[in-house]
Amino acid sequence: MSSSTLSIFLFSLLVLCSFSNAKRSSPKPKGFIFPIKKNETVNQYYTSIQIGANSTKLNVVIDVSGNFLWFSSDDYFSSASSYIPIPCDSKECGIADGSGCILCEFLPPVPKCITNMCADYALNPYSGTQGYNGLSTDVLHVYSTRGQRYNLRRFPFQYSDTVLRQGLASSTQGVISLGRTRISLQAQLASAFKIREKFALCVPSSGRIGNLIIGNVAYNEPVEAISKSFISTPLIRNPMSNNGDHVVGNLSITYFIDVKSIRVNNKTLSFNNSLLSIDESTGNGGTCLRTVRSYTSLHRSIYKALVNEFVNAAASQGTKRVASVAPFGACFDAKTIASGKNIGPRVPTIDLVMNGKNVVWRIYGSNSMVRVSQNVMCLAFVEELPNIAGPTTSIVVGGYQMENYLLEFDLTSSKLRFSPSLLLSGTSCSQFGAS
Ligand SMILES: *[C@@H]1O[C@H](CO)[C@@H](O)[C@H](O)[C@H]1NC(C)=O
Ligand SMILES: *[C@@H]1O[C@H](CO)[C@@H](O)[C@H](O)[C@H]1NC(C)=O
Ligand SMILES: *[C@@H]1O[C@H](CO)[C@@H](O)[C@H](O)[C@H]1NC(C)=O
Ligand SMILES: *[C@@H]1O[C@H](CO)[C@@H](O)[C@H](O)[C@H]1NC(C)=O
Ligand SMILES: *[C@@H]1O[C@H](CO)[C@@H](O)[C@H](O)[C@H]1NC(C)=O
Repeated sequence: MSSSTLSIFLFSLLVLCSFSNAKRSSPKPKGFIFPIKKNETVNQYYTSIQIGANSTKLNVVIDVSGNFLWFSSDDYFSSASSYIPIPCDSKECGIADGSGCILCEFLPPVPKCITNMCADYALNPYSGTQGYNGLSTDVLHVYSTRGQRYNLRRFPFQYSDTVLRQGLASSTQGVISLGRTRISLQAQLASAFKIREKFALCVPSSGRIGNLIIGNVAYNEPVEAISKSFISTPLIRNPMSNNGDHVVGNLSITYFIDVKSIRVNNKTLSFNNSLLSIDESTGNGGTCLRTVRSYTSLHRSIYKALVNEFVNAAASQGTKRVASVAPFGACFDAKTIASGKNIGPRVPTIDLVMNGKNVVWRIYGSNSMVRVSQNVMCLAFVEELPNIAGPTTSIVVGGYQMENYLLEFDLTSSKLRFSPSLLLSGTSCSQFGAS
């Protein structure tokens, strides 16, 4: 072979190779997007996913502190041809950190079972019910922020008993989880596509659509410009698990932040401050974030302090208190509240103050007041009931207070970055996307 023939041969080989490569793999995705809707009756935020060989479409409630995906759906059951049970002694079972093995004859119905199946408890975060069942995998079809479809092969989940769905919004079939586990949605996407384990959550207010973006992407304008003023605070861990198996030494999969004080119209509330730190031996105390709670709940003594100060500050601007409407402890005559421009009713601001200068989550009327009737608006915070099944967290930030804030959970750096209310800039979660 002459040298020129050789180089032509090599050249064509090169062209062939790069051509077939291009044909085989789509460009590496940077991030994935999941639209979020709200069911206003039950205040649940959900997204839709496509799973299995037949791309069965399911609506699933988003649990930012959940462990893994679980659902039940007849449509999926009857077409589960790519469903694969996870064997007990497999690497996948190790990643799932399952709590046991289950024999086929004792399983509630699953599309297919095997004699030694990796099993775990799926938690319904509304009813508190747990369903023990085998774990399996199937292909999850996901969309990149550029709109391309990708397959996440062998995505782990539990096919649950239908009764576990009780308490979920009627249009949903299960729960998808973003907790600190290795089988949560963002952990699986990050490991399969080698993207940063990070997600940006923007839950919508009533009648609008928000987005969840997993990965490291540039946002669209004006959100990218606003992101320069995002505030950062460490995500901390509670040494006690609070996902059913509350054993000392187990790390919780729930996201905690270190709130140091609470202010109403700049005035710091006074209550026993040790409630704000996590008791290392019991796991009690601290502040966590939960999308599956409608409103922020506070330990009784913090709640009392908040209501007192808020009622006083509201009274000083002419807002009249009226009889409370459960579950709220402070309600007001809506006619005595002026409406604000972007950020809802004009009421005293509530600040969650964290460590460091100006690390403040400021809550305005749009996120602190809820209209319960034509003439009555209530402070959208509730008293936390003690948790009999595990540690009691002093502040549980709920979905209503997260609406139209962009919350960026970066698990690689263990930081939460959050935006000011997007409403301040005349935008909202409905306008949040990738550039
Ligand atoms: C998958 O969908 C196709 C087209 O809708 C249908 O013909 C087929 O029966 C489905 N497969 C199963 C196993 O349900
Ligand atoms: C929201 O969920 C509730 C409770 O399941 C249901 O009654 C209602 O119809 C749902 N709303 C919508 C719009 O799907
Ligand atoms: C944590 O929980 C798992 C079960 O999920 C258990 O096997 C393990 O022993 C626990 N770790 C500690 C330190 O208690
Ligand atoms: C709270 O403090 C900020 C500046 O730190 C000020 O702009 C704002 O007016 C104060 N609010 C009230 C109600 O005093
Ligand atoms: C404050 O709360 C902690 C934890 O609940 C408790 O141990 C302590 O005694 C309380 N201090 C006061 C002064 O009430």
